[in-house]
Amino acid sequence: MAAPQAVSHDAVMAALATVNDPELHASIVRLGMVKDVATEGSTVRLTIELTTPACPLKETIQTDIESALQAIGVEDVQLSWGANVRASNPKEGQKPVEGVRNIIAIASNKGGVGKSTVSSNLAVALAKTGARVGIVDADITGPNLPTMFGLQAGVQRDSADGLRPVERFGVKVVSIGFLLPRGTPVVWRGPMIGSAVRQMLHDVPWEDLDYLLIDLPPGTSDAAMSMAQDAPIAGVVIVSTPQAVSVEDAMKAVAMFEKLDVPVFGMVENMSYFIAPDTGTRYDIFGHGGAEAAADELGIDFLGAIPIEPAVREGADSGVPVVFAHPETESAKAFNRIAGAVAARISVLQRMSGI
Ligand SMILES: Nc1ncnc2c1ncn2[C@@H]1O[C@H](COP(=O)(O)OP(=O)(O)OP(=O)(O)O)[C@@H](O)[C@H]1O
Ligand SMILES: [Mg+2]
Repeated sequence: MAAPQAVSHDAVMAALATVNDPELHASIVRLGMVKDVATEGSTVRLTIELTTPACPLKETIQTDIESALQAIGVEDVQLSWGANVRASNPKEGQKPVEGVRNIIAIASNKGGVGKSTVSSNLAVALAKTGARVGIVDADITGPNLPTMFGLQAGVQRDSADGLRPVERFGVKVVSIGFLLPRGTPVVWRGPMIGSAVRQMLHDVPWEDLDYLLIDLPPGTSDAAMSMAQDAPIAGVVIVSTPQAVSVEDAMKAVAMFEKLDVPVFGMVENMSYFIAPDTGTRYDIFGHGGAEAAADELGIDFLGAIPIEPAVREGADSGVPVVFAHPETESAKAFNRIAGAVAARISVLQRMSGI
């Protein structure tokens, strides 16, 4: 059998230059994503540095690279992945949060539609891809993240250092609930709420985070407003359930953020449908598709639908988010897809603004 033809480094680079990043629509070579190329006979080793470890199109990139290299006679492609998450630029007058590259806010005008559930699961989903992730509980008067992450309320009550992130499932969590025993109401007024949220962002040692998620309280509250105005939010994920009253409120939230010049990443439909586990019959308990139709109408992305599943509620109550406890469920898969879509959206927005 003839020995395989050696392939030159130049030929490899030329072949790789024809491969485009499917999201950023430019050559992976020109985007600087190709690193450490080593050619030995007909074997090529290389690293692809992504703009996010949560990249949803890794497989497409890999297949495209393999076909481009096979076309020039490469027989063995040894591909490693790396990621370098870039930082979003703050707008004028906004103070960057030290150690944080991108802030993602989760919002809706309506209460109880699943903001905290979506925030906690997106955070864990991003962390599972290898991203460095934090989450802030901006629901000062009703903090739920300690429970949802299985963390004890009041753990830092006697701490001399004030609030500190507590790591759980790979996510650094900060909640005002760490300072208060469980069930204690917080009766603060507007300006104090705003300053508490600011402190949770700026006075906490985040070190090096790719993504910091902010779980906002319902409504156009002081916390939401002051956050949106002075925190350098990369974008907002709006959560809605399918029924009209929720969709109307979600549309108001979109309008509010657009007015404040905060990019809206898109809309998520939570509690979108229910599949009966015994019969497999599907029930659209709150209707279906309302959020997607609203996203279409508003010209924003629809990021995905999450079914009603008992495992989601159990995960929230038992302190182990469903993405971690039951990655095989439809809801966990939906959270993973949405996390990838949001991370990809950040990369695209950054590319559009030349970062
Ligand atoms: N897809 C789902 N399937 C089953 N239960 C869900 C789902 N999404 C949320 N829940 C449950 O619904 C309840 C409300 O969710 P959550 O607390 O996340 O809403 P919220 O929008 O953050 O509420 P608030 O406005 O009070 O902050 C919780 O008990 C949660 O476990
Ligand atoms: Mg909440």
